Amino acid sequence: MGITKHAGGLGATKELLELCHVDSDSFLLIIGCGSGISACRIAKISGCRILGIDISKRMVEVSAARAKKQGLDDRVEFRVADAQNLPFEDNTFDAVISESVTAFPENKEKTINEYTRVVKKGGHIGLNEVTWMDTPSIELIEYGISAIGGVKPETAGNWKKLLENAGLQDIVSRPRKLKKMEQAINEVKLSGITNSFKAIGRMLWLYFTRPAYRKAINDMVKDARDIPKDFTKCYGYGIYAGKKP
Ligand SMILES: C[S@@+](CC[C@H](N)C(=O)[O-])C[C@H]1O[C@@H](n2cnc3c(N)ncnc32)[C@H](O)[C@@H]1O
Repeated sequence: MGITKHAGGLGATKELLELCHVDSDSFLLIIGCGSGISACRIAKISGCRILGIDISKRMVEVSAARAKKQGLDDRVEFRVADAQNLPFEDNTFDAVISESVTAFPENKEKTINEYTRVVKKGGHIGLNEVTWMDTPSIELIEYGISAIGGVKPETAGNWKKLLENAGLQDIVSRPRKLKKMEQAINEVKLSGITNSFKAIGRMLWLYFTRPAYRKAINDMVKDARDIPKDFTKCYGYGIYAGKKP
């Protein structure tokens, strides 16, 4: 749809870039690039070289088209790949960033070990990932998996442990509650006002011209009424980072 999907929007992305010491000399691997909005924004902010991967071929095509349109395709490239099995040599990248992706793969330990393997010694790994702010009930865990595309959040303690177990040092862990209004503003900031209006316009157009789309949206609104009461209390995100020794 052209709207990016990670908590904290542009502010969180800039925080990750700072924690991962990304600058114009960096070669950055972006995991789960989605529609490429964040990757292109990062390329403009930092001037760095970027390789973005996503498990979805469609997302990679959309991202590549975006980079080309924005004149970034000389230093921003996208490929289809699985975060759990990265097709890159050891010690290749200066930093690896994942925004709202590492909560999806079945084996998070293997996934974070892969990030660590491909980052250079002294390089950084930065995650922005969905986080349980409180110990979740079984009902909440199942709801996350069934209703939010198979997402499997962790507590901040578990995210930190995953980075430590991968052998990373100087670990940063900053869990945060998700505030709906703040999130909406952050997403608009990251996508840009024009893109956000375009995306909303397209959604409205689809809603009124495509019955199947209208039904999907109406079902989503109905489902939203069934969100367990303690879900918003328990669901947040966190910025996590570590350095490969
Ligand atoms: C919530 S979206 C986030 C997209 C983007 N990072 C952003 O901030 O807008 C999650 C993305 O992760 C991708 N993804 C999920 N599992 C993956 C895996 N195992 N390897 C690579 N990408 C994956 C999905 O295809 C999707 O594009």
